[in-house]
Amino acid sequence: MYFDAELYNTMDKPWETILYFMNKTLPKLGWNSDKPEVAMDVGSGPGYLSKYYILPAFPNVKKLIAMDAMPNMIEEAKVRHPHSKIEYVVANMEDR
Ligand SMILES: C[S@@+](CC[C@H](N)C(=O)[O-])C[C@H]1O[C@@H](n2cnc3c(N)ncnc32)[C@H](O)[C@@H]1O
Repeated sequence: MYFDAELYNTMDKPWETILYFMNKTLPKLGWNSDKPEVAMDVGSGPGYLSKYYILPAFPNVKKLIAMDAMPNMIEEAKVRHPHSKIEYVVANMEDR
């Protein structure tokens, strides 16, 4: 598996679909922004979504763990989208 962080940054993203999911679907699943929970963004890529979409949707989150299997994605995220509440981690969700 290989995903190129720089190439990914140049591609259009389905932001409206993502916002619909965050604003309409997650509340129906019982998620809300009031709980001081730890959230996880699996497959965070270069971190733009983590910082500018997920974190604002959950303003009281204690920590957002943003994980990606690709070290280059996490390196990009740490440089481009650092945030005190986000911990960027290289990890494969298929590993045990
Ligand atoms: C389409 S990108 C989405 C990036 C970001 N969430 C966004 O919306 O901009 C998918 C990401 O999932 C990561 N990924 C794929 N399989 C994974 C796995 N098994 N564990 C962790 N990350 C994975 C890829 O490296 C890639 O960065």
